[in-house]
Formats: sequence, C-alpha cells, structure tokens
Amino acid sequence: MKKIVILISGRGSNMQAIVETALAQQWPVQIAAVISNRADAAGLAYAAGKGIPTAVVVSKQFADRESFDAALQSKIDEFAPDLVVLAGFMRILTAGFVKHYAGRMLNIHPSLLPSFVGLGTHQQALDAGVKLHGVTVHFVTAELDHGPIVAQVAVPVLEDDTEDTLSQRVLVQEHLIYPQAVLQFVEGRLSIKDGRVHVSK
Ligand code: GRF
Repeated sequence: MKKIVILISGRGSNMQAIVETALAQQWPVQIAAVISNRADAAGLAYAAGKGIPTAVVVSKQFADRESFDAALQSKIDEFAPDLVVLAGFMRILTAGFVKHYAGRMLNIHPSLLPSFVGLGTHQQALDAGVKLHGVTVHFVTAELDHGPIVAQVAVPVLEDDTEDTLSQRVLVQEHLIYPQAVLQFVEGRLSIKDGRVHVSK
C-alpha cells in the first residue's frame, strides 16, 4: 500500500479532491498525513474529520528557509511517504529539500506551464490576453514551477472573464486532473526520461 503525504497552506480543495477520489475509487493508498505550514489552514479540519493525521510546521517560527525545510522534511519523513503531494503549498523550497524527494514529489500549478509561473497566474493570463489558460501537474524540481510535466488541461478564456471567474473554471479542472495524476504515480505508470514524463498504459 503506497503512502502519500499531502502538504497544504490554506483551503485545501485539491487535497480534498484527492482524498475523496481515493476513497470513492478505493485506491490502494494510505493518505498518511496532511501537513500545513499554517495553523489556520482550513483544509486541516477536513483532513482531521476524515481521520487523517494532521501536523503543522509553522514556517514563520523558523529563522531561515533551510531550518524550516529541515523541520518539514523530518516531519514528512516520520510518515515514510512514497509520494509527497503539494496541494496549494505556498512555499519556495530549498534545493536540498527538493532533491530529497526527487521523482516522488508532485505539484499543481494553475497555468499552462511554462507560461505564467509564480503567483497571480489568472491575472497574468488575462493581462497577456491569451485565449487558452489552464492547469499543470508536474514533478517538483529546484526551479520554481518547472519540472517534468505529468498532465495539463486547457480551459478557454472568455471575453468577460475576471480573475475570479477564470480561476473557478481552472479549479474545476484541477480537481479532476490532480487525483488522476496521483493515481498514475501510485500505479507506477509515470517515468521521467530526458526531462519528459512518459505515462504508460
Ligand atoms: C490552487 O489553485 C493550486 O493550483 C494553487 O493554489 C491553489 C490552492 O487551492 N497552487 P486549494 O488550497 O487546493 O484549494
């Protein structure tokens, strides 16, 4: 049974989509823990309600990135995960941390990477006037919002879209694509070669 640790910072709707899909489809996985860097992350209550162990490692209490990442890493590793899932985890990670989880850490980013890295992706898309926007699931590498792409879904940008309406349209797809990508990992169907992800049947 594969073990998954999910990291969140807030709402946790992607975490919830993964947990619900795993339960509904009876995945052979254990959601070993949901860990947040903020004590007030709303998603923690949902996880606890599902009987999933939760933990908080408060980023603000650490002097620098290295010491926070070291504390986070040791907390994560208490649960010996096969996969670490970043689900709205709003932290820039150190190279050492990323290396430790190389090939077993996924992130979801609300844009069609490599377009629109960082924050405010929906406004970035509106400002650029693109007609298609979307979401990417990728393996995490040291460079922010880069790394081998597992899956992408595009949505149209409509004439009267606001940041809110566009982000809602993308979020619906996030909740479908992320569970799917996590399941592909769990089933051992993802491999990385020359920076590209191959999904086997
Ligand atoms: C999502 O849009 C995700 O793609 C981005 O941050 C948001 C988190 O939402 N990285 P939630 O906490 O999963 O509801």
